[in-house]
Amino acid sequence: MILEEIKKDFPLLENRDIAYLDSGATTQKPKQVIEAIEKYYKNNNANPHRGAYSLSIEATEQYENTRTKIAEFINAKHREEIIFSKNATESLNLIAYSYGIEKLKKDEEVVISIMEHHSNLVPWQKVTKLKEAKLEYLYINDNYEITEEEINKKINKNTKIVSITQISNVLGIKTPLDKIIKAAHNVGAIVIVDGSQSVPHIKIDVQEMDADFFVFSGHKLMAPMGIGVLYGKYNLLNKLSPFLMGGDMIEYVYEQETTFAKPPTKFEAGTQNIGGAVGLASAIEYLENIGMKQVEELEEELLHYAKEQFNKLDFIDMYAPKENENQIGVISFNIKDVHPHDTATILSSYGVCVRAGDHCAQPLIRFLNLPATCRASMYIYNTKEDIDKLIYALNKANDMFKKWRR
Ligand code: ALA
Repeated sequence: MILEEIKKDFPLLENRDIAYLDSGATTQKPKQVIEAIEKYYKNNNANPHRGAYSLSIEATEQYENTRTKIAEFINAKHREEIIFSKNATESLNLIAYSYGIEKLKKDEEVVISIMEHHSNLVPWQKVTKLKEAKLEYLYINDNYEITEEEINKKINKNTKIVSITQISNVLGIKTPLDKIIKAAHNVGAIVIVDGSQSVPHIKIDVQEMDADFFVFSGHKLMAPMGIGVLYGKYNLLNKLSPFLMGGDMIEYVYEQETTFAKPPTKFEAGTQNIGGAVGLASAIEYLENIGMKQVEELEEELLHYAKEQFNKLDFIDMYAPKENENQIGVISFNIKDVHPHDTATILSSYGVCVRAGDHCAQPLIRFLNLPATCRASMYIYNTKEDIDKLIYALNKANDMFKKWRR
């Protein structure tokens, strides 16, 4: 499949004359996903798990089929290891509040990286403070890498939890997951992987990775907002206390006591987002039809092209390693001496959508000693023409700022 053909599946990109380069924030939706959701609401909508009538059974089937599809997509061993949530943030809070609060003891350590999104940082601050435990950081070197030395220094006998992104939402850098997971397991710590920025772009195999928990948001892989996933190894989920209490997650409720359902139901309190799940199943099908290998290749080609064009601009600071192999889908940059919000505003006037700011990763931006950055984040529907539009608009913006600088 060639890039131009993919773009035709996305009504918004057909209807608007824009270069959409903010897929790190959220992706556009193909017509197949939009139609699947519409079809569900027109034909099958009911509350699942609660009715004996056929409509409710149909809704239950669609919801549970999505669970199976996700399990296959990320190669979970059991479909019961897939829990639906609102998004990656909710999945991470679930683990922090259930596993973190239950297991952490005074002076024990949680290790995260300096590249974490606030969603994989603030919950750990809260839990470590509550339990008088410590929050430690894996820092990056000048080439944006977490070195083996850093891993061995920070992950030690005091470490109980390691929670790490697979790909940075700000820099697009892949973390050395293999080494981090091995080091954590060697000292008996569990590992949570934030796959929000990886699942849309690369093939995930949670068994091969050996993550204990893995989280992601549906809307970053072309599903609607409001549907997310928590994967957990079954034996861990089975021992874990539920996070949210309410309907469906129970076994028996007495006046003073309750017994809980088995996973995954134990973690799915209240009416769930079935339309969102149907959209997620359709988005996964869309990706599977292209093939994750092809997705990776398309994105590699785009990133390579974009970095080549960026390297020709002497007025740009790009925050990226020289080599491309550890970087996926994202370029963070600034026009020298110009605030990124000003740059992004000018880019917008040329129809180019990039995010500017701290990208929900303030400690990283502070660590890099930057005020903020502009971020161009690409996906399968982007073309070289979108990159050319960005480069054209950047040249125009620089011409404008040059005049003001005089
Ligand atoms: N987490 C999203 C981003 O990185 C919103 O932009």
